[in-house]
Amino acid sequence: QKLLVLCGGQSSEHIVSRMSCTSVLNNLDINKYDITLIGIDLDGNWYFLDKNQTDLAQDTWLENSKPVADIYELLRNYDVAFPVLHGLYGEDGSIQGLFELAKLPYVGCRVMGSSIAMDKIYTKKILDTVGIPQVKSVYVKKRYDDKLVVVNNTFDEIETVESYIVEKLGMPCFIKASRSGSSVGCYRCDNSDELMIKLNEAAKYDRHIVVEECIDCIELETAVLGNDDVIVSRVGQIMPHGEFYTFESKYEDEESKTCIPALVDEKIQEQIRAYAIKVFKAIDGHGFSRVDFFLDKKTNQIYLNEINTIPGFTKISMYPQLMDDFGISYGELLDRLIALAMQ
Ligand code: DAL
Ligand code: MG
Repeated sequence: QKLLVLCGGQSSEHIVSRMSCTSVLNNLDINKYDITLIGIDLDGNWYFLDKNQTDLAQDTWLENSKPVADIYELLRNYDVAFPVLHGLYGEDGSIQGLFELAKLPYVGCRVMGSSIAMDKIYTKKILDTVGIPQVKSVYVKKRYDDKLVVVNNTFDEIETVESYIVEKLGMPCFIKASRSGSSVGCYRCDNSDELMIKLNEAAKYDRHIVVEECIDCIELETAVLGNDDVIVSRVGQIMPHGEFYTFESKYEDEESKTCIPALVDEKIQEQIRAYAIKVFKAIDGHGFSRVDFFLDKKTNQIYLNEINTIPGFTKISMYPQLMDDFGISYGELLDRLIALAMQ
């Protein structure tokens, strides 16, 4: 099979994608696939990369590369694509739409599932309809004229942003760029004085911002694999070292660890696995997703955190670890994902 593997991309998770892709390339069976590696830089330029590099996260990743002259022509010449891309343009339905136009089968969720899951606000709206519990939240939008407003459940705009949030959620709260990942554009806000400052910070990453109530919780994650009849892994637990699971603690802090299975009651894990399948179905998922939850330490209430339709694939990432625990090795996982792409 002629396989196109893509990494990098124009998102705030560009470097994570290059780490994920390094692991993917190390685990793909080169006897099964005729691999072409494409690197997308932060400006959106596409390059043929040297696929024998051992670490794509190195600054030298573009050495010996050649620009792709005609992207559409390139896409027409492959059997299947694996976008090892995270975040905007890679995980949000944009590149999936390009693959659809070029009739190129691809790993992962289709256009609509990708775009819903990428946007934390729209994810909440869809999942509210199927009864997935979620923390209290407020949707703030930066209008095209740059003014910040609250958007209520009936999509009316409310200008008294600060008082609306304080009244609805109290302090502290979490402020998150809605279409971001790896905790980029994500801030904890401890008092109302810093609310507008942090909202404006988040607005640099996305014009959709979600503000959530702050609960004392542990973070639990589970992995879904399949198109129609899906399997769901056991539940893994994040053991963050710092204040919360920040970008640094995810990829740079050796002290942050994961634990499989999670150190929580069996019944809670079963409920989470059932929710994960429902979430995947509700977004019309395809191929794979990692579905993340919070568990309130005081009440044991489960809440959805988010869905990642192209979860991290670095060597310390949860998705491949959860599948490995399930009995599916990294190499077999890649084979299955590519097979699922063709269905
Ligand atoms: N968005 C990152 C890659 C993850 O959740 O794994
Ligand atoms: Mg994420």
